[in-house]
Amino acid sequence: MISKIKEVALRNNVPIIQDASLNYINNIIKEKKVKKILEVGTAVGYSSLCFSMNDSVVCIDTIERNPEMYNEAISNIKKCNKENTINVHFGDALEVEISNFSSDYDLLFIDAAKAQSRKFFERFSPLLKPDGIIIVDNILFHGISINDENISRNLRSLVRKINEFVKWLKENDEYVTTFFEEGDGLAISVRRC
Ligand SMILES: C[S@@+](CC[C@H](N)C(=O)[O-])C[C@H]1O[C@@H](n2cnc3c(N)ncnc32)[C@H](O)[C@@H]1O
Repeated sequence: MISKIKEVALRNNVPIIQDASLNYINNIIKEKKVKKILEVGTAVGYSSLCFSMNDSVVCIDTIERNPEMYNEAISNIKKCNKENTINVHFGDALEVEISNFSSDYDLLFIDAAKAQSRKFFERFSPLLKPDGIIIVDNILFHGISINDENISRNLRSLVRKINEFVKWLKENDEYVTTFFEEGDGLAISVRRC
């Protein structure tokens, strides 16, 4: 069923997580025995469903603002009988009521509007356990550089914002961040002891 969901998503150009990044995160979930996950950016529920297949995972809260994506995610989660594990919250992650969420997540996965990653990080990181992990996807953004001559102004501005976010992470005294450069790039941050 999940492979069918992936196939349909790719056919419809839904930007789902790349295999290399997914494998990397699944290894972290297994190694750290992650139980509770908060995801920003559900799309059709593909990454949530993949994470939920790990035995340790008991609860995933995931946020999506696009109504069509939200409805498809709900339907896909039902098809996989994961309604008891995955809760899809409809709304803009920068506006949803924070008190509707737990405050003891093991993992925060940020995979929504790429220009807003810092805002999502700052808004949701307080909901993590002290030893929780924050993973941000697409920090390489398809390998596009702001120096590429053939990109639009909008794309250049987006790439600039992602680069500024990466710089902010590297200079952040509160977190130690490592970067995984396969797939579309992941930033993995943990709070400094
Ligand atoms: C890259 S896709 C998520 C892919 C999904 N995590 C996966 O790998 O299967 C990003 C999704 O984030 C949603 N999104 C973007 N900005 C958002 C926001 N501020 N609040 C909630 N959802 C947002 C988009 O509508 C889109 O469906």
